[in-house]
Amino acid sequence: MADRKHVNLITIGHVDHGKSTLIGRLMYETGSIREEVLRKLKDEAKEKKKETFEFAFFMDKLKEERERGLTVDLTFKEFNSKNYYFTIIDAPGHRDFVKNMIVGTSQADVAVLVVDAKDSVQEQTKEHSYLAKILGIDQMIVVVNKMDTANYDQNRFNEVKSQIEKLLKGVGYKPETLKIVPASAYKGDNVSKKSENMKWYEGPTILEALDSITPLERSVDKPLRLPVQDVFSITGVGTVPVGRIETGKMKVNQNVIIMPAGTKAEVKSIEIHNQQRQEVSSGDNIGFNLRGVGKGDIKKGDVVCEEDKPATVAEEFTGQIIVLNHPTVIAPGYTPVFHIHTAQIACTVTEIVRKVNPKTGETVEENPEYIKTGDAAVIKVKPKKPVVMEKQKDLPHLARFAIRDMGQTVAAGVCIDLTPKK
Ligand code: GTP
Ligand code: MG
Repeated sequence: MADRKHVNLITIGHVDHGKSTLIGRLMYETGSIREEVLRKLKDEAKEKKKETFEFAFFMDKLKEERERGLTVDLTFKEFNSKNYYFTIIDAPGHRDFVKNMIVGTSQADVAVLVVDAKDSVQEQTKEHSYLAKILGIDQMIVVVNKMDTANYDQNRFNEVKSQIEKLLKGVGYKPETLKIVPASAYKGDNVSKKSENMKWYEGPTILEALDSITPLERSVDKPLRLPVQDVFSITGVGTVPVGRIETGKMKVNQNVIIMPAGTKAEVKSIEIHNQQRQEVSSGDNIGFNLRGVGKGDIKKGDVVCEEDKPATVAEEFTGQIIVLNHPTVIAPGYTPVFHIHTAQIACTVTEIVRKVNPKTGETVEENPEYIKTGDAAVIKVKPKKPVVMEKQKDLPHLARFAIRDMGQTVAAGVCIDLTPKK
C-alpha cells in the first residue's frame, strides 16, 4: 500500500450506460465490497423495483438516486490495483447534472469513458469526452459495456469501437493510445477477469488497463513540485507545512526554493503519517520541516521546488474555461477568486479571446463582450498577486483552476499559455 501511487479516476459517459455499476463491480472484485453488503444492496434494489441496480446502489446513496435509478452527485471511493491506489469519482451521466461531472473531472487524472454496446455513442458520450479534453484529461480508458446485451458479438464491438475512435479523434485524443475494452460490468466480463464469453478479445481487462496507465511514473522524473496545502506549528518540531508531491522527489538535506517568494531552504525532515522518511516522491502526501523556515515564511498556495528548477510564476495567463454557474455574465474586469492548485488568489479577467462550442470545440465568436452559464471560452487573466502556475502541456496538476464567487464554483478550466514574471 505504501508504495502504490495515488491516481484520481473519473467515470464519464451517457446516462445509464453503466458507470456506477462498473465501479461497484470493480470494487467488489478487488475485495472492497463484502459479500453480505452486496446481498443487502441486492435486496434493497429489488424492494425499490430496481433489480440489477445493486452495484450502482453501492455508489448511489442518495434517496433520489436510488428511487430514480441514476447518479446525481459525485461519489468518491477508494480501491487498489497492483500498481496504484485509486480514488474513483463516479460522475452522473444525466444532462441535468453535467455541472457535477465537470467539478469531478477537474479533480481527476484519468477518465474511464463508459459506452453502452447497444446504444453506442450518445449525446453525453460526446459532451463528456470534449469536456474531459478541455479540463486536461490526457489519458482515457474506454469501456464498451453491456456486451451481454449484444450477444458478446465481436462485429458489434468493432462497430461501436470505430464510432468511439472517430469521436475521440475529433475531440483531440490519439486513437492509437486508447485502450478500448469490451465488457459487461453487470455480469463481470473483462472487469478484472478475462471473459469466457469473448475469447476473440486479446487486449487487457479493465483492471489491467487501469494498472498500465503511465502519467505518474513519468512524473517522478520531473522536477519537484509540492503545492503547500496547510502549515502547522508542532511543539518540538516547529513549522510543518503539508501537501501532496505532484511531481518529482524530495529528500532529507535537499536544497529547495519556495515559490513565488523565492526563499531558499534545506529539507530537515519528512514524514508520512507520523513516520520519518528519507525520500518521498510524486503522489505522496507528506508533512515536512525546512531548516530556518518559520511560520511566516511559507503559506498555503506556495509551491516547494528544487532549488535550481523553480516553478513558473505567472504574470498573466490564458485559460480555457467552462462557465458552470453565474447569475449574470462574465465580462472583462471581472475579479473573482481563482483556486489554482492549493492557492486562492483574486485575478482579473482582462479579455475574452473567443467563445467556443463546448460540445464540439468550434469557435462560435471572436472577442465576445461577455460569456454566461453554459459557455466555454478562452480568456486572458491577470493575477492580483504572484502565483505559481504551469501550462497544461507542461504540468497538468498546476495548470488547473476553478473560479469561485459567492460561495459557488463559477467556472473550471486549465491554463494553456502564460507569460512568466521576470
Ligand atoms: P447515471 O449515473 O445515471 O448516468 O447511470 P450509470 O451510467 O451510472 O448507469 P448504472 O450503473 O446506474 O446502470 C444503469 C442500468 O444499466 C442498471 O439497470 C444496470 O444494472 C444496467 N447495467 C449496467 N451495466 C450493465 C451490463 O454490463 N449489462 C447489463 N445487461 N446491464 C448493465
Ligand atoms: Mg451512475
